[in-house]
Amino acid sequence: MNSKADSKKNKDAADEEELLKILQELDEATPLHKNKKEDDGMHPLLTLGLVAAFLAHGAILFSLPPVLKQKGAPFLPTNSNNLTVMFNALKKQSYIQKALQQKTPLTFYDLGSGDGRVVFRAAREGIFQKSVGYEINPVLHMFASMRRLVTPKYFKSTSFRMDDLWKVDLSQANVIAVYGLYPIMGRLGKKMEQELKPGSIVVSNVFTIPGWKPVQVSKDNVHLYSIPESIQWKEHKIEKE
Ligand SMILES: C[S@@+](CC[C@H](N)C(=O)[O-])C[C@H]1O[C@@H](n2cnc3c(N)ncnc32)[C@H](O)[C@@H]1O
Repeated sequence: MNSKADSKKNKDAADEEELLKILQELDEATPLHKNKKEDDGMHPLLTLGLVAAFLAHGAILFSLPPVLKQKGAPFLPTNSNNLTVMFNALKKQSYIQKALQQKTPLTFYDLGSGDGRVVFRAAREGIFQKSVGYEINPVLHMFASMRRLVTPKYFKSTSFRMDDLWKVDLSQANVIAVYGLYPIMGRLGKKMEQELKPGSIVVSNVFTIPGWKPVQVSKDNVHLYSIPESIQWKEHKIEKE
């Protein structure tokens, strides 16, 4: 009985060995075998592509809830032309020029900071002691924070917070940037009226603030508002570029 079981075991082992031999021969015969070294890991570009796709999908996915709840806009980055228009207009404002002459520290907020481009541009302009980005989307917040880590030059002068813009205290800001959507602009205007200090400037990309009068509008639809003039707008004159 035992010798029967032993001979079956030996036969199975021999079959297994034979099968392994065949598989090995097949493996060596395949053309892929020649590129085995390169195929050991995923191509770095493919890895990069997958990470980018993951971030993009995450950014879109997390963008939907605030839009649906009318809490903010989806991620639409400001183009570089409008960034230039925005900061050139800001630099011409007497409030900013005076603060720079008197070396008064200025603080910049971007409400819904996306990938951080507006905050980094603000830091690059050298006008602000601190530029802060508030973002509700965790993927975009993570992206901007990682960008900050690899940009040591602006590490100290920038910061990113994962926060709902409606909960942010605006009383310490000197300049606010916003790229919202029409449904939120009226409510945001009311929040800013209550919290912003006199002298503060609001720069809104594309959308206007209902009931406010801009002190400057560019042909690229960058709207500049000044507190309190833009709120007491009836007495104020608009400058059209
Ligand atoms: C039109 S994008 C502007 C991004 C960036 N400021 C720029 O100009 O490139 C609006 C951003 O606001 C964010 N957002 C929407 N609702 C928000 C909320 N309630 N609090 C903070 N961020 C919000 C979105 O995730 C999106 O990144």
